[in-house]
Amino acid sequence: MRWSAPTVVVLAALLCLPLAARDAARKHEPNTRVPAGVVRFAPSVFPDRIVASPAQDAATGFSVAWRTSAQVDVPLLQIVVAGDSPDMGMPREVQSSSRELRTENGLAHHHRADIDSLKADTLYAWRVQGGGTWSAWHHTRTAARADVPLTLLYFGDTQNKNTSLTTRVVREAMRHAPDARLSLFAGDLVSGGDGEDDNEWGEWFEANESLPTSMAVAPAIGNHEYFEEFEDTPRERRVLGAHWPLAFALPGNGAAEAASTTYWFDYQGVRVAVIDGTSVLDLGTASAQARWLDRVLASNPHRWSIVLTHQPFFSPRDGRDNALLREHLLPVIRKHRVDLVLQGHDHVYGRRQADGAQTPVFVVSVAGAKQYRSSEEARASMRPVAEDTQLFQVVRIDGTRLRYEARTATGRLYDAFEVLDGGAAGKRLREVEEGRIAGRACARTQTLKGRSDRCWE
Ligand SMILES: [Fe+2]
Repeated sequence: MRWSAPTVVVLAALLCLPLAARDAARKHEPNTRVPAGVVRFAPSVFPDRIVASPAQDAATGFSVAWRTSAQVDVPLLQIVVAGDSPDMGMPREVQSSSRELRTENGLAHHHRADIDSLKADTLYAWRVQGGGTWSAWHHTRTAARADVPLTLLYFGDTQNKNTSLTTRVVREAMRHAPDARLSLFAGDLVSGGDGEDDNEWGEWFEANESLPTSMAVAPAIGNHEYFEEFEDTPRERRVLGAHWPLAFALPGNGAAEAASTTYWFDYQGVRVAVIDGTSVLDLGTASAQARWLDRVLASNPHRWSIVLTHQPFFSPRDGRDNALLREHLLPVIRKHRVDLVLQGHDHVYGRRQADGAQTPVFVVSVAGAKQYRSSEEARASMRPVAEDTQLFQVVRIDGTRLRYEARTATGRLYDAFEVLDGGAAGKRLREVEEGRIAGRACARTQTLKGRSDRCWE
């Protein structure tokens, strides 16, 4: 290959310049790919933003949310046991409910259909109606009995530049766990605000491609799914963003004080409880959510339990300390011996246990482009930690063994462990060191925007 002289000069400069000088020649990437004045995600008669979420008992039901233009009202969902012939028989029809939402992309209708009375461990084909049209037939398998092995995915914050840089993480996760049936998202799916959050939601669905229609999606709400009303005034307060209750069809069995942002469900031998850290920290629901969580975990008939939350109990980022979570909810999590506490918010990776106990294992991870820095305390109290790394996690549960893997955006193993249930002897954690890559730390002193407290944004 022959390169032109200017190309050689540029390549030589890129190879020789230190990181800071190279960064000075680069431009910060905008939060979405949508240029100002361009309409990319207008709702239409074709259903989009289709996402399945588990029912409280995921063996017998799931719910679906989708979006169309406002001319489509209470459309149908059709569902049938999936078959090999294109003639899968007469589908059952489920009526939806519709609510409108006006955004920078115009007026949309968001629909929700709840499907019950399904057979466990059964592959269903389903599609949703638009205006004179239908979606593709999607395949989703209901949860199986508790003793059937389960693979699930867990993603930290996606939040920024979702089409550009979350897409590759989701694809790598699907490649590494094609058998995953459930996907947990730890909040801050979008960044919100700035009159562009509908484009951000459009990009979140674009980045996730076939994931939300091929498995059950369970998200925790992040602080970025709220917005600040009366910002910078004494009346400032957090208000739930308009997208959250419409974008997902969640079980609706949460704490009364945080009804649309907390919920729980059983998925194949695991009880998953999703709490709202923003409401705990800023809206005064700490003790109410703790009482609710206590009830949810006390009635868990299964061997395994996971708590999903946005804000971490132990923060790996400098200057953050979510004391109310530890004060009110940590005793409940300890009392019921939760296995995994899966978290986001801090845009770094860190894993730890607490007070010498084997479980729960607390993990903070990040899937998206925004990367912060670990605190000194995190480097001393967590292992491993990571900066400047996009990650996804695969959890495999098989009987008495839970195996956890954190992999980088290129699929390399960064962290792994197993939790082994010894029955009366309790659960113990076994480190898996084999195959892990070396620890990763941020190599730059500031971001392209000049922020030294972050590594990339
Ligand atoms: Fe956050």
